Amino acid sequence: MKIQWPDNFEFETDATCQTFFKPFILDELESLKAYDAVRPEDITYVFHEHARRVAENIRRVCRSLGLGEIVANNMYWAILPHDIGKRLLPPDIWDQEEKPSGNLKKLRRTHTLLGAQIVQESFPDTEHPFKDLMIEIMRYHHEQMDGNGTHGLPGAMLSAPVRLSAIVEAYDGYRIWRPHFENRDISPPGVLKRMREEKGEMLYDMTLFEAFAKMKMDDYKNGRLLGQA
Ligand SMILES: [Fe+2]
Ligand SMILES: [Fe+2]
Repeated sequence: MKIQWPDNFEFETDATCQTFFKPFILDELESLKAYDAVRPEDITYVFHEHARRVAENIRRVCRSLGLGEIVANNMYWAILPHDIGKRLLPPDIWDQEEKPSGNLKKLRRTHTLLGAQIVQESFPDTEHPFKDLMIEIMRYHHEQMDGNGTHGLPGAMLSAPVRLSAIVEAYDGYRIWRPHFENRDISPPGVLKRMREEKGEMLYDMTLFEAFAKMKMDDYKNGRLLGQA
C-alpha cells in the first residue's frame, strides 16, 4: 500500500484526471465552501481556504525538494481535497472557544475516512494511481511518525507523500489563529520552532520537515505573505 512520489502519470494531461478527478475536486471544494458558509461568521480557520494554501505549499515544497513539476502538480491536486470529509460532520463541532476534548477530537478526525468514502463512492470502478494517492493522503494526513496518530499507523507504514502532507497540513493549521491559541506566536518562525521543538520527530519526518522549514524561512525573509500561501 505504500505509495511513492507520484511520477507515473501526469494530472495535467491525463484523460481520467482531467475528465473525472478535476471536476470532482473542484465540485467538492465548492461544497466545502458552502459548508464553511454555515459555520459562525467570525471563524478564522476556513476549510476551503486552508485546502488551497496547503495545496500551494505542497507544490512549492515538492519543487524545492527537486521532485520535478509533474510530481509537484500531482501532489497539488491530490492534497487539495484532503479535508472534504468534514462536510459530512455537523458544522457546529469545529468552532468551540476551548481546546477540543478527546471525544470531540476523535469525531472530528473521522473526516479522514469520510473523505476517502466520498471518493470510493464517487469512483467505485475506477482504478488509477491518482485515486490511490488522493485516498491515501485523505486517510492518513493526521498520522504521526510514532504511531500515535488518528489511525495508529507507525511511521514505517507512511509513504513519503503522506509524511509530507502531514507536515504541510499541520503547519497551515498552526499558522491560523484560533481562540484556544491565545497569545501564541503564529509567525512562520514561531510555528516552525513549535513544530520542531514540541514533538518534532514523534510527529514528523524530520528530513522532509527541515526542507519545508527552509523553504518557509526563505519565504519569510523574502517577505512572502500568508495570503500567498
Ligand atoms: Fe484533516
Ligand atoms: Fe487539513
